[in-house]
Amino acid sequence: MCGIIGFTGKLQAADILVNGLEQLEYRGYDSAGIAVNDGTTTRIVKTTGKVSKLREKVAATKGIEGTCGIGHTRWATHGGVTDVNAHPHVAGKVTLIHNGIIENYKELTVALKEKGYTAISETDTEVAAMLIDSLYNGDPFAALREADKILEGAYGFCVMFEDHPGEIYCMRNASPLVASYTEDGAFIASDMVALLKYTKDYFVVPEEHIVVMTKDDITLYTMDEKVEEPKMLHVDWDTTAAQKGGYDYFMQKEIYDQPEALHNTVLPRIHNGHADFSADNISDDIFKGINRVVITACGTAWHSGLIGRHLIESMLRIPVTVELSSEFRYMNPILDENTLVIVVTQSGETADSLAALRLANERGAKTISIVNVKGSSIARESDYVLYTHAGPEIAVASTKAFSVQCAGMYLIALKLAEVNHKMTEEEMADFCKKFEAAIDTVPAVLKMDDYIKTISEKIKDTFSAFYLGRSLDYGIACEGCLKLKEISYVNAEAYSAGELKHGTISLITEGVPVIAVATQENVLPKLMANVEEVKARGAHVIMVTDKDMSNYEGIYDDLIQVPNVDDLFGTFGVTVALQLLAYHVTVFRGYDVDQPRNLAKSVTVE
Ligand code: F6R
Repeated sequence: MCGIIGFTGKLQAADILVNGLEQLEYRGYDSAGIAVNDGTTTRIVKTTGKVSKLREKVAATKGIEGTCGIGHTRWATHGGVTDVNAHPHVAGKVTLIHNGIIENYKELTVALKEKGYTAISETDTEVAAMLIDSLYNGDPFAALREADKILEGAYGFCVMFEDHPGEIYCMRNASPLVASYTEDGAFIASDMVALLKYTKDYFVVPEEHIVVMTKDDITLYTMDEKVEEPKMLHVDWDTTAAQKGGYDYFMQKEIYDQPEALHNTVLPRIHNGHADFSADNISDDIFKGINRVVITACGTAWHSGLIGRHLIESMLRIPVTVELSSEFRYMNPILDENTLVIVVTQSGETADSLAALRLANERGAKTISIVNVKGSSIARESDYVLYTHAGPEIAVASTKAFSVQCAGMYLIALKLAEVNHKMTEEEMADFCKKFEAAIDTVPAVLKMDDYIKTISEKIKDTFSAFYLGRSLDYGIACEGCLKLKEISYVNAEAYSAGELKHGTISLITEGVPVIAVATQENVLPKLMANVEEVKARGAHVIMVTDKDMSNYEGIYDDLIQVPNVDDLFGTFGVTVALQLLAYHVTVFRGYDVDQPRNLAKSVTVE
């Protein structure tokens, strides 16, 4: 949510900033802007719209020269999408960009007015710039430290002070920042993808720390101005990992990345019929003596929790609840040392999931997170982390991250079963064989792309759609449905198939698409009875299944038949088919697949 980049060094900053913002654009694309200092003057270019528009505006503006600058791509929170609300913001000697929300900005506005400050924008960020300027007496560090005592909310700031040319001061509270020093100079950004072109080595700026960047150095300080040695991390992604690589959209590429992402996540962790977490340094102790599991996450990641519940309850007979993190954090949950809390997150920075994790830690639960982004806050604050190896996910709509989150759930379920003696050696070996077989079906589903496209074309003009599933398939239906609605703007709803006739069936009219997910043999006749009910009311039924449908011909209109797998592992193939369906519908409707309106990846505000 909002992308930040800063650079000071030997190279011209404008290009680095705009290129970096392009990589960060998935974090928000309401407006973008840069500020570049040439040693004496700071020039700002900003505009509503995407980074490509900023690029044109920068090219058309004379004098954007200098080797020190900051850049921002915005997801609007406070104040509309206007040029004046775009970052950077200036107050007195301060030029600033911000990711996060300043919660006490109203009180501060009143207090600052008495000191002679009047905002020109409607943003909370400008208030932060005014506050820092009001506290500034020539010592940037002191001004930031004082501001940190006064500001409430979440922030990652990059600040340039007029009388400290060539220097950038950055402060983090909650909103993520990563930094690095290279031969070319010092870099900071909200996400490593923006720096990949220059380095693969970086450190995560810890919360409540200040980073000072000069052209020769980068230094991490605690709030009381003690130098701290940063903990360096390394990513093994190459630059192509964050590029489209010949695909039309990142989402399309990421759908196609799934066989590799699944292999990277699963295969190194399966040895001789056991889940092996030794390379992750996850102790078996965390899985012992557990009498309850709580899975908490948001959005797509929450859907992987629905899959996790099905697995853990059916394999272990331990009660599992799946909580939306935004609810969990405020519901005073009952947790103790026998509860295992699993936090699932691609970014590792989702504000609600982080708050849920902190609550679980406070209440003494055991915590493990399933995270894609290395070194992220949730990864660092969990007792243990199971990293998924999906590589960077750039499209706002999550695809490969979901598949590997589900894979993480299967691995944890297997480990729980082993540690708690719920499966025999033979059963575990059989589980691993079927698991690997299931992920190996994904390439065959990708080969059905053209066929799925023809089905997508049939439903491309629909206003609404329904997704049905029972048991495990309900979670898959929820995720397929979210994919369609968030990018194509089709008004789609997912239902447990048996629930439809308790109200929603009144919305089924002639031609309304109903996508029925069927991977569970034991509920197949029940599901098909529900399908008959919608068919009788004129629905256009698309079956997405790995099961033999020959007994049901005539009930459905279209069939997406993926390779058959064991019922417990139905997740992977049909999920990919549903992703392709959503993708093609969106392309037919002419929308921007990667950057759907109003959304941003990595939701670092409540
Ligand atoms: C939808 C999507 C979101 C995220 C959610 C949580 O396609 O991507 O629903 O799943 O915002 O994000 P993470 O996984 O980063 O915590």
